[in-house]
Amino acid sequence: MTETRNIPSGARASQAHLAAPAHTATTAEEQNAVERPARFPFPFAPSGWYQLAQQPDIMTGSVTPMHYLGRDLVLWRTELGEIRAAEAFCPHLGAHLGYGGTIEGELLTCPFHGWRFDTSGVNVQIPYSDRTNLKAHLTCIPVAVANGVVFAWHGSRGEPPGWEVPVLDESLDRSFVRVAGERVLIRSHVQELLENVVDVAHFQFVHHTAGFGSVELVEQGPMLRSTAGVVFVTPKGNVDGSVVSELWGLGIDIVRPKGILHAAVIFAVTPVKDGLVEAGYTFFVPKKHGTNEPTNLGRAMMADFSKQLEQDIPIWEHKAYKPSPALARGDGPIVAFRRWAYQFYGD
Ligand code: FES
Ligand SMILES: [Fe+2]
Repeated sequence: MTETRNIPSGARASQAHLAAPAHTATTAEEQNAVERPARFPFPFAPSGWYQLAQQPDIMTGSVTPMHYLGRDLVLWRTELGEIRAAEAFCPHLGAHLGYGGTIEGELLTCPFHGWRFDTSGVNVQIPYSDRTNLKAHLTCIPVAVANGVVFAWHGSRGEPPGWEVPVLDESLDRSFVRVAGERVLIRSHVQELLENVVDVAHFQFVHHTAGFGSVELVEQGPMLRSTAGVVFVTPKGNVDGSVVSELWGLGIDIVRPKGILHAAVIFAVTPVKDGLVEAGYTFFVPKKHGTNEPTNLGRAMMADFSKQLEQDIPIWEHKAYKPSPALARGDGPIVAFRRWAYQFYGD
């Protein structure tokens, strides 16, 4: 995980999960935390696919420690190129496999006593014993590699993946260049970030867009497609267009602006722990003819997306979640979005 933002100590997000039984509170700060209601009335990690890494960053033979989904994890890539993820602690005596673990062929070796595990987490060798240990099984996490991004499945009730990560046509098309944007840590919740997609009224005030139109929603199980009419402000004047956002669960938003250029953007949001998410873009923009470089328009679009993310962050980090908001005509379909989002929390 690349940390690109500092999280101030004592920030609201770090207090929210201090809500411990009252008898453990010993300081004024902890008392305050106990009395503060939870910031969000739903679990921090709904079911879904979440970005763990950019595929090119995970080298063959690497073993990488990470902390996402409230857990210590390890991500490794075998010599044949298989990428796997598991809970970080060795089932033998608990070493963190991400600190000193090594790859030999298709096997992951623990740094502490040299036990070896295959790509499904099964213990296949104990160097000082003629037997393996059937109980010593790594808790593997389903991984999908798509669009050059490594995603992990999180089942909030332990359920297996409920759908596949979509593969973008633009990711297979050599006339597009793939650019990974930086990831930022934000004190918020995945649902709060993605609610912005349907909150069309905020674009005018937070992002200073010239205008916005109505939103059309199409819902298909874990997919919610929102098409919003917008007016793009360009150096050559205003252009009528739209923004199509396809949400796949609460971790993946595939955005395609229509009207000024053909491009696709994956906005991926991953729960880190209670009150903290990591978010960022993967862009697919047209190449300048005969080069591997983005066109000027592609560059401008990427800069605009990045600027919009920066503009949203102060609102996200300080807002409260209103379970029964006071809405007006002209607000986007917030309630429909929340009803759709509810499916990812289980019962
Ligand atoms: S803790 Fe991993 S082999 Fe002993
Ligand atoms: Fe926004």
